[in-house]
Amino acid sequence: MHTPTDVIAGVGLRARPGKSHWPARMDLAQSLSGLLLGLFMWGHMFFVSTILVSKDFMWSVTKAFEGYFFFDRSYPVLVSFVVGGIAAVFVLHAFLALRKFPASYRQYRTFTSHRALLKHEDTTLWWVQVVTGFALFFLAAPHLFQMLMHPGAIGPYGSADRVWSASWWPLYLVLLLAVELHGGIGLYRLAVKWGWLQGADAEAGRKRLKTAKWALTAFFLVLGLLTLAAYMKIGYEHRDRVGERYTPAWVQPQEPAK
Ligand code: HEM
Repeated sequence: MHTPTDVIAGVGLRARPGKSHWPARMDLAQSLSGLLLGLFMWGHMFFVSTILVSKDFMWSVTKAFEGYFFFDRSYPVLVSFVVGGIAAVFVLHAFLALRKFPASYRQYRTFTSHRALLKHEDTTLWWVQVVTGFALFFLAAPHLFQMLMHPGAIGPYGSADRVWSASWWPLYLVLLLAVELHGGIGLYRLAVKWGWLQGADAEAGRKRLKTAKWALTAFFLVLGLLTLAAYMKIGYEHRDRVGERYTPAWVQPQEPAK
């Protein structure tokens, strides 16, 4: 039990290192929330990129999330629930990451001089993760809020109008770069930290993981850029009919039989 002096001075608490399980718990929670967000982003990129196949396919995926094929009508609020869950994990992950940011100019200088001294690629990658993570605080928030409040405005035309006519594409471009770098490095660091997929030779394992990391980042960046270009093109072509919703030909109401 802590005495009042412990609590007031805070000294006694810090003078007993190794007693608290919280740093380890927070580390685990940060790893798990990061893993969940990384896996979510892979799924997200595949769903969003269905526009590269066809408008009908992207429409079908959107409607599936709205429960259309299950209830025979759309409930966009179902998407809001998913967004709410992801946003909660995102906030938790960001909160836990705050502990890792340099908290003063002095800490920042210590880190940069160590980085210069070590010249180790993984130390530089860690810094890229800190910078992109900081950017994500600001870049992801408007997107998540938009998706939370207007889930019904997702679709081949709704999304393309937002990207082009509502000028969201610059935000998406920077968000895409930040999230792919951040997620790729994050998943690589998770594998190194917890010893996943390393094999018997740790050095060779790390090399393999790094190759896989860059390959995945390059793949998702190219996929993301092509997807963004597709929404921009559709949005540009649809610029005079902003607000109109896409409906596949096979869903149009049938002409009454004569
Ligand atoms: C459940 C939560 C989410 C939903 C439902 C969602 C949905 C969407 C949709 C429908 C688009 C297409 C553009 C549009 O309609 O405006 C999009 C694009 C995008 N989203 Fe999300 N999103 C979610 C979470 C996130 C998160 C957490 C991030 C990153 C931190 C993110 C990053 C992006 C990026 C970078 C694009 C542009 C895609 C590209 O250029 O290929 N999204 N999202």
